[in-house]
Amino acid sequence: MKIEKIVVASHNQGKINEIKTMLEPFHITVVSARELDLPDVEETGTTFEENSRLKAETLSKLSGLPCLADDSGLCVHALGNRPGVYSARYAPERDFAKGMEMLLGELAASGSSDRSAHFSCVLALAVPENETKIFEGRVDGTITTEPQGNGGFGYDPIFKPEGYGVTFGNFDSAEKNKISHRGRAFGKFKAFLEGK
Ligand code: IMP
Repeated sequence: MKIEKIVVASHNQGKINEIKTMLEPFHITVVSARELDLPDVEETGTTFEENSRLKAETLSKLSGLPCLADDSGLCVHALGNRPGVYSARYAPERDFAKGMEMLLGELAASGSSDRSAHFSCVLALAVPENETKIFEGRVDGTITTEPQGNGGFGYDPIFKPEGYGVTFGNFDSAEKNKISHRGRAFGKFKAFLEGK
């Protein structure tokens, strides 16, 4: 599939810049939803796939262009995979120090000794007149008993990926991208663009 221009369904400039850099070798022009005056799409789905599909398909229809959207979050197994699709909304006023404290409190209150968790990321690529393509990435790990490290964002300081002695809060972004849910989902998307 030859894509020349793509809308990224995000208003987060950091995310848009990362995607721009990643798509440079493919000679794909990246435009943001804001540049095209496209609206924010409400995440009304109950799964990562539903939300990413909803965002990509809505904005692709409105713009007539291919659109890439992502949805991601942290799933804590002892909490029935919560906060999951609600990860951003779980933290009061997007204060993740508070969000992490609440999550650690919930986990302690659950009485479970299971601290396993995973991050998921689902990317959806909607292209007019085509079936939407889905690319998924996941990283498994455990929830620490307190935040460690100041790097990353969101719940990174309480998530220790499998096979590592430190949390994502101690990773630099290049290192994290190699094993993260988002890195893995984008790896599959890039392989698709390369025709692999
Ligand atoms: P969205 O995908 O932008 O809707 O938001 C996902 C939310 O999940 C973020 O606000 C974070 O709270 C959390 N999240 C997703 N990926 C990561 C990650 O790599 N590290 C830490 N938190 C993450």
